[in-house]
Amino acid sequence: MRRVALSQYLVEQARSGAAVTPELGLLIEVVARACRAISVTVGKGALADVLGGAGTENIQGEAQKKLDIISNEILIEANEWGGYLAAMVSEEMEKPHQIPNRYPRGKHLLLFDPLDGSSNIDVNIAVGTIFSVLRCPDGVGEPDERAFMQPGRCQVAAGFAIYGPSTLLVLTVGRGVAVFTLDKETGSFVLTTERVTIPEDTREFAINVSNMKWWEPPVKRYIDECLAGASGPRGKDFNMRWIASMVAEVYRILTRGGIFMYPRDARYTEGRLRLMYEANPMSFIVEQAGGAATNGRTRILDISPTALHQRVGVILGSKNEVDRVTGYFAR
Ligand code: F6P
Ligand code: MN
Repeated sequence: MRRVALSQYLVEQARSGAAVTPELGLLIEVVARACRAISVTVGKGALADVLGGAGTENIQGEAQKKLDIISNEILIEANEWGGYLAAMVSEEMEKPHQIPNRYPRGKHLLLFDPLDGSSNIDVNIAVGTIFSVLRCPDGVGEPDERAFMQPGRCQVAAGFAIYGPSTLLVLTVGRGVAVFTLDKETGSFVLTTERVTIPEDTREFAINVSNMKWWEPPVKRYIDECLAGASGPRGKDFNMRWIASMVAEVYRILTRGGIFMYPRDARYTEGRLRLMYEANPMSFIVEQAGGAATNGRTRILDISPTALHQRVGVILGSKNEVDRVTGYFAR
């Protein structure tokens, strides 16, 4: 088998016409290196005294774990000096992080969820890092929130790392989705799936059923029909999974299909997941793999953001199932 490392993949993508400039290539490589460092720290767990709460809250009022803060610092430090970024946004920081004056500024904006699924850290279940890359609007020297207010379809790259039994990097630069596996001996991300395709049909759904009492009728109808199984209107039995790490759910869907839903409901009236650094990058990846992603009413990548940390309902995965749920909303 041809052994292709991430650097070679990026060069080959550029040569075959993808919009991977040397600046964007370097950005992606540095993010991957930061993910490798996070993977090492996550892997050490209690041995490095990194488990447990930090005793602080983030801007969304969520208790921060030590590893949320460590992962955020790793990503910030890794990405400050390279000269390819104009600013960064993180789930863990209220305002955009500006590039210090001692470094040159570049043309890209980087957004990330440093450690997704962090409620799973202390119970040794897979967690990950999600990232999204936008272009900085022309003429903007010190980007404030407004520079980031671009719909997800403007992303030039998106990806996520998952720290599970293997450490994986899933990446799109707008020409399909590739998966790299971290070779922990050489430290290199090696291409292991060149083009991911999500099956259009599925018998597997993922939703936090404990929220059922707050769901909107179209969501309730869809799940009721799945649960009715072979003798219900769908005429087939369904299986359910809920890992509570979006990175792991999306990776499962990329691997074998499925539908993932964290819809808005009577409690999370805007939705639970964040648009800019969770829903947008995941929707870009899912669409690039042949799947679909909506909030029930609108394609997620077409939503014009109004706030950095805004939330959104998310329904993504196998195309025919997502279209079915969206159809239930339209009635
Ligand atoms: O980042 C939010 C997140 O941790 C996702 O990874 C996951 O899908 C979701 O929250 C789990 O939410 P809940 O704990 O409500 O099931
Ligand atoms: Mn998250």
